Amino acid sequence: MIVGLTALCLTACSGPWREGRASQAAADDATSRGAIGAIGTPVKAADIAAWNIDVAPDGHGLPAGSGDVATGARVFALKCAACHGAKGEGVLGDRLIGGRGTLASDKPVRTVGSYWPYATTLFDYIRRAMPYNAPQSLSADEVYAVSAWILNQNGIVPDDARLDAHSLAAIRMPNRDGFVPDPRPGRL
Ligand code: HEC
Repeated sequence: MIVGLTALCLTACSGPWREGRASQAAADDATSRGAIGAIGTPVKAADIAAWNIDVAPDGHGLPAGSGDVATGARVFALKCAACHGAKGEGVLGDRLIGGRGTLASDKPVRTVGSYWPYATTLFDYIRRAMPYNAPQSLSADEVYAVSAWILNQNGIVPDDARLDAHSLAAIRMPNRDGFVPDPRPGRL
């Protein structure tokens, strides 16, 4: 879809100034024609796969692989602690650990452990966006491992836990039932 939109924009956006600036326009036109020629061309499965990395709450979309708490501790120390603190207490990046039992208080501490309703979202978010300075640089095994460590530090999985697609999706997060459907009409 993104490829299609870009090509569409090249068609629509190049029109108005084309006549006035002949040589540059001709050069740009040639470039545009290459892109426009791609409209209607099926996008390769490999190209879609690179973008199609979302994981649903029920675990749909989780890749093969696995990772344990001990490995996750090493990954975290190496690639996350600089921003999130050695114990996930938060520095430049958010606090990731603790806060259980504070949500109804005057000072709610919203973390992965206290607030997030699905453990699968943790995998999705880390794989997609973290480390902040090098997103999508971790292997699936590393993401499983560092997720396991964060969940372990939050008291959600035991020290010897090894997470994979099946076991991650089976976790019931403490705040799973803490959300209510938005009653306002309409959709965002
Ligand atoms: C360079 C700094 C940096 C590094 C390194 C980094 N993070 Fe982050 N992280 C952030 C920032 C900043 C945010 C908030 C991003 C936002 O809200 O858009 C964040 C947000 C998060 C969140 C969401 C927290 C929440 O409650 O919303 C998780 C989970 C997370 N990081 C995990 C990790 C993991 C795991 C690693 C290591 C693999 C990592 N981060 C490495 C800076 C970093």
